[in-house]
Amino acid sequence: MSHQSQSEPIVPKKRIGIIGGGVSGLASAKSFQAQGHSVTIFERSTTIGGVWNPTRSYPGIKTQSPKDLYRFTDLCMPEEYPEWPSGGQVLEYLHTYVEKHELGSVFRFGAIVTNMEKRMDGKSGWVLTISQSNGREPKAQSYKMAFDFIVVCTGTFTNPKTIVHPGQSEFIEAGGIVKHSSEYKDTTNDEVIGKRVVVLGGSKSSTDIAVHAANQRGAHQVTMLYRRNIWRIPYFVAGINFKHLLFMRAQEVQFPSWKAPASIFSKLIALMAMPLIWLNFRMLECVLSFQLGLKKWGMVPKERIDDSVSCGLPSVTEGLFECFETGCIKPINTTIKCYRVNDNDGTKYLVLNNGETIKADIVIQATGWILDLPFLPDNLKEKLIDNDGLYRLFRFAVNPELPNIGFVGFNSSFCSVLSSEMIANWLVKYVDGMLVDQKSTEEMEVEIEKLLEWKRKVYPPAKVYGGNCVAPFHHLHFDEILHDIGARKYKAMFSYPDAEAYGECLESAPKYSVGKQTADVFLDDIL
Ligand SMILES: Cc1cc2nc3c(=O)[nH]c(=O)nc-3n(C[C@H](O)[C@H](O)[C@H](O)COP(=O)(O)OP(=O)(O)OC[C@H]3O[C@@H](n4cnc5c(N)ncnc54)[C@H](O)[C@@H]3O)c2cc1C
Ligand SMILES: NC(=O)c1ccc[n+]([C@@H]2O[C@H](COP(=O)([O-])OP(=O)(O)OC[C@H]3O[C@@H](n4cnc5c(N)ncnc54)[C@H](OP(=O)(O)O)[C@@H]3O)[C@@H](O)[C@H]2O)c1
Repeated sequence: MSHQSQSEPIVPKKRIGIIGGGVSGLASAKSFQAQGHSVTIFERSTTIGGVWNPTRSYPGIKTQSPKDLYRFTDLCMPEEYPEWPSGGQVLEYLHTYVEKHELGSVFRFGAIVTNMEKRMDGKSGWVLTISQSNGREPKAQSYKMAFDFIVVCTGTFTNPKTIVHPGQSEFIEAGGIVKHSSEYKDTTNDEVIGKRVVVLGGSKSSTDIAVHAANQRGAHQVTMLYRRNIWRIPYFVAGINFKHLLFMRAQEVQFPSWKAPASIFSKLIALMAMPLIWLNFRMLECVLSFQLGLKKWGMVPKERIDDSVSCGLPSVTEGLFECFETGCIKPINTTIKCYRVNDNDGTKYLVLNNGETIKADIVIQATGWILDLPFLPDNLKEKLIDNDGLYRLFRFAVNPELPNIGFVGFNSSFCSVLSSEMIANWLVKYVDGMLVDQKSTEEMEVEIEKLLEWKRKVYPPAKVYGGNCVAPFHHLHFDEILHDIGARKYKAMFSYPDAEAYGECLESAPKYSVGKQTADVFLDDIL
């Protein structure tokens, strides 16, 4: 709750509409509510958690981030949790957070935001259209609600990307199954037992499901089809927990960030360090190749590791290379050309683009996600998203051409809970005009252009997932946030991001209060 003192500035209370009840929705609701604003979260599913909602994730899932790097600043994960908690444990943790901050009452579940339009009553803000189902009646009810500010927390991995290959419907008619990784569930795993499973895709969902189907679900054979070799990071690199490598400031400064060295002296240092940095990454590649046996599997990536670190860099699924060794998972560097069913005996096949034909009963498309904001009017989408799919966001959170809209979770990272909370705090102050360094529209536009230029020309891995990823530049991103909000307590953290310490930094920003009443007379809740 906000603490009002006479010396503190007072800003009008606002009504905040939050779309999405995952980690980012929770971070946003807590941050706006703690400042004293009124919040409502619209969540299309029936529970919190987003990607950790059991209807969205598959059995056996656990975090990639170690537990002290996947947490809010004011709530550590329980001690008894393992270093990499399971999906169920993360969900339980998120429920604890909801209870701690009394967020339960701000949720509207089964509420899909389908549209947003500018308020027509002369006030600034937006009117959301919500399609509400109550889980009992088949037909959803539609209603509208007006807000001063909308926070989009719909996530970068919300809409499954599926592919249709020639012959797919005949394959399904013959009893074959084709589904997206998000549909691989506990309840339907019987369909895997004793079957020939093909997993399409070479990233984290693909390897997780391949190992699960082979080791836990008794698939007869699992084939993993992937189209390019990528670097994967084991939880322990040469025996060292990867949090001591990938998350450190010393590691981060070795990548060319969006912030160019300011002085001639720092440019000189950067130049002199280049050979050492080069050597460091080549050594890391050697360690990874040796530890995982990448040569043996023809899986050494063409790309240098320093040209590929971003949110797309997966951790190694435990048991993956062991499964390659035993043969229960067969990796093939190719993709699907078409499905085929034998007319005589009904045997189902996949014809692959490398010319091979393999038998298959079930195909799981672990082919990723489509980033989309279907509720956003087209004219706003054009302003927000460039032709190459890159989002135009200042601090990964706002676009001055989209007034009264902010984005949380579009600064995805290797410690996404913390990055969502950090930017949610920044956004509260942005909305209230209380950033200590509040940039003008022109300055934000210049920064947006600079960031896009950097993603396109200097560090292309940053283009992954619409460019909505700050990894591996966590420290830099957090430094900028703390600078903007005027954090008085500021530690240049050299270790991996310490959530608790960042909490203290956030708390040290200048205080202000919100008034007791909302700024405007609102339209009725239900129009
Ligand atoms: C399987 C998986 C594992 C991951 N593991 C890690 C990890 O270990 N470490 C890490 O840092 N990151 C991880 N990530 C990244 C992950 O995306 C973030 O950690 C974080 O959970 C994202 O939270 P979010 O709230 O931004 O998005 P989401 O969790 O995707 O939540 C978005 C919510 O918005 C709702 N929504 C969408 N559209 C609408 C609408 N129109 N109306 C109403 N509601 C809507 C959705 O139902 C969903 O609940 C993982 C991602 C996946 C897919
Ligand atoms: N905590 C966890 O354990 C966990 C588990 C799952 C996912 N995640 C995270 O969630 C995010 C999404 O991961 P994801 O694995 O679901 O998706 P993803 O990273 O987007 O990977 C999609 C995969 O599908 C392949 N692909 C896409 N289109 C294809 C096509 N037409 N034909 C063949 N292959 C195609 C891609 O190949 P290309 O690379 O060639 O494009 C890639 O290998 C990532 O950030 C990941 O780290 C975390």
